[in-house]
Order: sequence, then C-alpha cells, then structure tokens
Amino acid sequence: MMEDAARIEGLLRAMTLEDKVGQLAMIRADFDAAGSTLLAPKVADITAGRAGSVLDLRGASAILAAQKAAVEESRLKIPLLFTLDVLHGYRTIFPVPLGEAAAFDPDLWERTARAAAAEAAADGIALTYAPMLDVARDPRWGRIVESAGEDPVVTARFAEAKVKGFQTDDLARGDALAATAKHFAGYAAVNAGREYASADFSQRTFEEVYLPPFAASVNAGVAAIMPAFIELAGVPLTAHRALLTGVLRERLGFDGVLISDFFAVAELIKHGVAADAAEAAALALNAGVDIDMASGTYTDGLPEALARGLVRIETIDAAVRRVLALKLALGLFDKPYARGEDKLAPSTVEAHRALAREAAQKSIVLLQNNGVLPLSAQTSRLAVIGPLADAPGEMLGPWRAAGEASEAVSFLDGVKAAFPHAAVSYASGAHIPAALDAARSADAVLLCLGETASMSGEANSRARPVVPEAQRALAEAVFALGKPVIVTLTLGRPLIAPWLFKEADAVLAAWFLGSEAGNALGDILSGVVSPSGKLPLSWPFDVGQIPVYYGERPTGRPADPENHDTSKYIDAPTEPEFPFGHGIAYTTFDYGEPRVSVQTLRAGESVAVEVDIANVGGMAAEEIVYLFIRDPLASVTRPLLELKAFTKIKTLSGERVTARFDLTTDDFSFPDADARRRIEPGEIEILTGPSADPSLLTRCRVHIVTIE
Ligand code: BGC
Repeated sequence: MMEDAARIEGLLRAMTLEDKVGQLAMIRADFDAAGSTLLAPKVADITAGRAGSVLDLRGASAILAAQKAAVEESRLKIPLLFTLDVLHGYRTIFPVPLGEAAAFDPDLWERTARAAAAEAAADGIALTYAPMLDVARDPRWGRIVESAGEDPVVTARFAEAKVKGFQTDDLARGDALAATAKHFAGYAAVNAGREYASADFSQRTFEEVYLPPFAASVNAGVAAIMPAFIELAGVPLTAHRALLTGVLRERLGFDGVLISDFFAVAELIKHGVAADAAEAAALALNAGVDIDMASGTYTDGLPEALARGLVRIETIDAAVRRVLALKLALGLFDKPYARGEDKLAPSTVEAHRALAREAAQKSIVLLQNNGVLPLSAQTSRLAVIGPLADAPGEMLGPWRAAGEASEAVSFLDGVKAAFPHAAVSYASGAHIPAALDAARSADAVLLCLGETASMSGEANSRARPVVPEAQRALAEAVFALGKPVIVTLTLGRPLIAPWLFKEADAVLAAWFLGSEAGNALGDILSGVVSPSGKLPLSWPFDVGQIPVYYGERPTGRPADPENHDTSKYIDAPTEPEFPFGHGIAYTTFDYGEPRVSVQTLRAGESVAVEVDIANVGGMAAEEIVYLFIRDPLASVTRPLLELKAFTKIKTLSGERVTARFDLTTDDFSFPDADARRRIEPGEIEILTGPSADPSLLTRCRVHIVTIE
C-alpha cells in the first residue's frame, strides 16, 4: 500500500495539467463495418496522454495495440483502463439481471459474474459497468430489465454477489474485472417510467429503498460507481455533491472511482445548471465525479475551470490519485497485457455453457399451470408457434456484449432436443392460418410470445407494457382451438395481459434467458427439473396500478370492498396479477409456523428463525423461502411487509426441510422522523412463506427491548 501511494505521488509530480486531465478523460472507441476500432485521432490522444480509459473497444488484439500505444509510446507510460458493459455474460450469455434475480440465488449470481468476468478479461477488458442496482418498481421503464427487481434487500444481496463474482478478492488477477455499481441513485424513479426524465422522492425512500444496494456494494469493495443520468429534485446526479461526496465518500467511506454516465458531464448544460464546458466540468468534478465518460468536457473544460477559479488543482489531483489507484489495484502497471493474454480453455467455455443452462433453468418462473406441465414423455405431436419461438438472437436480450445469435439455442431447438421422439411443427405466427394448421394436429401448443430484445433496455420506455396486439390476435385464435396451450413470455419487464392469464393452461416467464434459453426451457417443459424461479417484482394487473409493489406503507383506510371510501380503484383491483415472490413448482409445499430462538432481544442481539417446509407433492424441487417483518407500531409508519432475508431449500418428494434465517436487531431498525436510523422497542411480527401474498404467510413475534 505504502509502495502504491509512493508510486502514485511520484507519477503525480511528473504530470502536467494536461496529463492529469487525460487520466480523467475516457474516450469511446470508433466503429466501422468490422466493429469497434480506434482511428488515428484517438490513437494520437492515447500516445499524447490525453486519454486514461477507453469505452467499448472489443477484441484482444485491438485492446493490446491500444495498450501498447499507451504503455510504450506515451511519455508517462500509464496503462489504459478498458471498459465495457458486461452485464449478464460476455460471450456466453446468462439470463438478463431481472431474470436471474428470479432465481433468488446469490451463489448463482456470483458464479455467472465470475464466468462473465473471466471471458471479458480474456479479451482485455478490465472494468465492467455492472451491477446495475436501481431498485425498480415501474415496468414502463425499459431498464427495469437490468435491475434485480423491486426489493432493496434482494438488490443488496445481488450487489454483493455480483461485486464478488466480477472482482474476486484480488482485482489484480488476470481474470478479474473492476465492477461499477450504477446508477446512483433513484434512476428507476423517473417520472411515469419515461427514460431520462427527472425524479423526485423523499429522503426516506432514498434511505430505505435506493441507497441500501449501493451501501452493500461499497461494503463489498466495489471499485467504481456511476451516477445516474437524471436529475433528482433539482440537482442532476452528475453534479450532486451531497450524494456523491457527502453520502458515498464521507458517509459510506467509498474510496473508489466515480465514473460519469455516457456524456452526462456535457449534459449538465442541457439540464440548465452549467453555461459551458468549464462550468459543467467544475460542477461534476467538485461533486466527486472522477472520470468523464466520452463527452470530452473535462478535456475541454477543466483547464479553463481552473483558470477561472471554479476548481482547485487539489481536487483534480485527488481524482487522478483515485484513477491511478484503481489501475494499480487492477495490476495494470505491473502487467498491462495480462488481460487478453490467455485464451479460455475449451473446458472452461463448456463449463460456462453448462452454467448458462443452470442459470436459465433457475430463472424461469412458472406463473400458472393447470396440470398441463410437465408435458408427458408420451407427447407425440407438439406445435411451437409464435414470433419468439425460433429467435435465438432475441434470447440474448439487451447488453449482449460479445454474445452471438448463432451460439444461442432457440426455444424451438430446445424443445426438439427435449422431446426427441415427438413430431414438432413450427410456425412463426406471422400468418395466423398457418399457425393454426400447425396447432390443429398437435397434442399441445407452445406459444412463444413477448418482447423482442430491442423493446426493452435503455431508452425503451413503454407507456403500455402489454403483449403486442398482433400477438394477442394470434393467441386468441390459438386458444379458440381448445388445445392445451402453454405460453412462454420472453420479456424484460412484466407484461400486462389479464386476458392471457385467463385462457392459457400454463404460462412461463422466460425473460431473456441467454445462450442456453431453449435447452433450459426444454428441461422445464419435460420435467427434468421442476421450475423454481419466483418473481422479483409484483406483476401488475393494469397499467394504472403502476407502481404496484408489496412494501407499501399502510393507509388509514385499507381497501375494503364493502366500503366505498377506502384505498382502491373503482375500475380495477388493487392487487397485482401476481405478487412479489410468486412462482410455482411441479410439487406442493406446506409451510409450518416460524420459530424464534429468543422471544426478547436487546439492541445488538440476534435471533435465529426456523421454519419447516414439507414437499408434499410428487417431485423433488427447490423452493425459495422468504422472511418478512412487520413493525405494527412505531414512531413513523412502517411498510406492510419488509423482506429481510430469503433462502433456497432443496427438497425431495415427501421430505421436510428446515429453513433457517439469522437476524440481528439492525434488521429491525429504520430511519426515524429525523432520518436517524433507530431501533425502537416493541413487538415485531416475523412472517415466513412462499411469496408476499399475505394469505400464504405464517407468523410469530419477537419483542425488542432497547437499552439506553
Ligand atoms: C448507460 C450506462 C452504460 C453506458 C456505457 C449509458 O448509456 O446509461 O448504463 O454503462 O451507457 O455504455
């Protein structure tokens, strides 16, 4: 450490202002017909020390050439940092984050991040813009697909697992990536789900909902954090000193690098808080942003900002120190070419494919099933229909890094492999009569509906997140045949479709499942594995319910169908189509009452909670078990349910398994009216069960006695 500090100070002394600003400037790769490249002007920036990092350059040889330009031709020989959005896989694509969240499996989340990091690092990448930690409750917002859903605790566990998987315990490893927690904070709260719009929420919501995942990422040692594009209550996050420096650095002790979002420093001018590049650069740097992604505003504006007295050289130096410290930690000074040097062994690639299949199996959520699934091994004629049935490229979803459509398994191919003795007929559904012909002769129909990859993700807000109209017409024609119909929904967000849930015999949420989508679906349809995924968010019944989430705070007039003047709609139910945590298996589970190890707790003490779950159905299966709390009486109103922990148990048919959770009194703390986190004395209800559906929860109580 001392040695690193001395190295950094030595470099800093040798640097001109231009060199320093160069370390804070990230350039973006150029693009030509063959893909990403660096054209001469950008190579010149590198050799002149005007660029410290690079976005979007792909391929080990292109990265090696650029790194050589920096390390062998620039005056100070400072290595470049190569960065890319590696969200859910690199070459091998795993389910999109919202899908993988449905697995509720931190160990899996970590393993897929590890595999993605190893593949990306083998191509020379050193930093990824993941994990995305925006707690998201509005399916109109396209980026909900990049999130882990509506719950802060789930997102916090996701944060820890992903940071660990990408970074390992040693960033200097040639197969480790620096992780970037993004987008700090509250990006998912944009007005009406409209991309890049502004957000405005309370300090309580910030403390209880949006901050915890970022705090967890900092505790896990995340190397970088990205502020959100948007403005929050009058202050663009890129210029938000109170949050970036006050909360992240001073309160949480984050000492990594803050990287702006793409062009966000320049966009401070459009937000209307900076008149020119110098002011924009000064606002961002003074707020705490170390690296300007791609906008050139630090390059153009910082020297002028310094001359005008808008920034201090000490602030520039502090940012440069952090950037150099990250490069040192990544081992880039000592081994600038280590990433990209080794090819992945074929056995590693094979293991990643197996992992992609496992992850996809665990991410599929069976939303409803009248017994049609699993399909009998005797099924001899299957029709596979719909626009997402034979669409391998769509399976990869948004942010597919180096994923190739040609390497992804479509649903059609997966079904053929899973039912080798069945006659499988296929129709895309573009011509309904042809689809009906295929369906008419089948024992069962697999109808593959949903969104294409380009309908979800960044800048894909939808005012009406529904199943597209043309697909509805196809589905209704197929339902009218009276055959058993199993629907897969490929999607990056819950799609509102009550008509579909009324008619279909079975519906599976299949997200964007990645490279092994079809094989994983085949495993589920054939019953090789029981579905175990559960919804990481509430699935709205109607667009007008949005946002609908399980953790609402109580009202003085809870919904009562007998009483008009209560909290409900006159034209829609208050309940979502499916609650948070919903997801069924091919077996049935019976939950016992939870037991606590102690009835009374003082501040700082812990309690173990155990609940027995019996698999009373006919098949081995995994079950995700939730533990919620409810604080019925406190100095401020508390949510109707708060998730505190979840676990996954493995059961054989007929087996009874005990799930165990360990809680401390910190789990019962909350910000009081003055935003100070407190533990208050009194009763806490502990609820365990298969989802956030209150009617399915079993409960007990503990008593909190605080000591002065
Ligand atoms: C997105 C970020 C992403 C960046 C770099 C932006 O448009 O908001 O999440 O990391 O681009 O690709």
